[in-house]
Amino acid sequence: MTDMLLTEIDHVAIAVPDLDAAVAYYEQTFGATVAHRERIDSDGVEEALLKVADSYIQLLTPVSDDSPVAKFLEKKGPGIHHVGYRVTDCAVALQSVKDQGGQVIDQAPRPGSRGTTVAFVHPKGAFGTLIELVQE
Ligand code: CO
Repeated sequence: MTDMLLTEIDHVAIAVPDLDAAVAYYEQTFGATVAHRERIDSDGVEEALLKVADSYIQLLTPVSDDSPVAKFLEKKGPGIHHVGYRVTDCAVALQSVKDQGGQVIDQAPRPGSRGTTVAFVHPKGAFGTLIELVQE
């Protein structure tokens, strides 16, 4: 048995074509507020994080045409893009994925937004869900 490595749902990421419109929807409909907004050029995205208890809704929009999120929107339209699970140690969780024969997108942990350390797990081998491991 593997020890439980996931400590919290960190965020649910939703791909949107218009970040301001999506933020306005959550503000006006649910009274949500933006806790953090950041452009991550290495991923070709801009994100807005809306806090829900100890988790976030991460609204994601592409800032370049070759961004994976741009391709996602083109293929599937707006919708849930990935789930971020909070972990104590990103390297340990990533190694566990590899040990179980899972496919990873990031071979090693790397910097994410708001100072986190992250690694993505390929949806193939993860029952169709793109998983992000998030270490705060
Ligand atoms: Co994410």
